[in-house]
Amino acid sequence: MTAINCPEPYRPCPDGPGSSEPSTRKETPKAPILSGAFSLKTSRQWFDGFVDSYQRQDPDAWADFENKRRHTLKVLEEIRLLGAALLLDERLSRLADIIALFHDLGRFEQLLHYSTLLDAGSIDHAMLSVAIMRRGDLLTELPRRDCALVKAAILLHNRLRLRQGLNPELAVLARLLRDADKLANFPDLLDNFDSHANNFDTLRMPLEHRPGAFTPEVFAEVAANRAVDYRRVRFANDILIAALGWTFDLNFDHTRREVLDRGYIDRFATLLPQTSPFVKMIQIVRRGLSLI
Ligand SMILES: [Fe+2]
Repeated sequence: MTAINCPEPYRPCPDGPGSSEPSTRKETPKAPILSGAFSLKTSRQWFDGFVDSYQRQDPDAWADFENKRRHTLKVLEEIRLLGAALLLDERLSRLADIIALFHDLGRFEQLLHYSTLLDAGSIDHAMLSVAIMRRGDLLTELPRRDCALVKAAILLHNRLRLRQGLNPELAVLARLLRDADKLANFPDLLDNFDSHANNFDTLRMPLEHRPGAFTPEVFAEVAANRAVDYRRVRFANDILIAALGWTFDLNFDHTRREVLDRGYIDRFATLLPQTSPFVKMIQIVRRGLSLI
């Protein structure tokens, strides 16, 4: 069986400069203790206490922390729906709950210290999540092997692509988390644009809302199915284009069907400029999602 690779946590993000110092020196709140065997109820309570401690520590960033709490709970909901559709067994369903609930723990510390959600130039938030789990001894009740699976799946959730040849259980968990994360992010992003907000809250990026304006390099990266360098994103249309690119990296038919059935692509099509390159890109995306 393929080994589960569990890289060391908490090092600067390899995609970015990673050496930048936190903008402010704020004390990381001490996470509450999670004791006893894992249950969704106690872990949810632990998670709420964890988020509350950050909100108390930095009340100015209360709304950012709250957004991340909502996001996590949405990912949990999506992963459960996806797991049910895939008829996951009890053990993997439980591990899926754990990875959903803990995958973005590092976001809170990233927001506290760097006031950004961009890993490039701050910190790899997935590694930070695993570091927090270790610090809090969150998985002591799990068998060793399951513990390694949880950590590895979380470490892989923000990687550009999954590599081939992963341990089969790790591959399932990592794919589940990546799809659930995207399913949770699509409506957040689209709602943001529907409300004509001048900030893209999910990434905390100031964006220029100029009709028809976009960055050709961002378009080209998505059209070539390459990763978008978010530091290049300048216009509101850029972030929409980048998010359309997420559809090329969906792992399960259920996810692809949900993206279509929930009308997310229709909403992208309405928000993007009605010019030929965009119309064509929407067609390509729709075709890709329909090939189930
Ligand atoms: Fe994340």
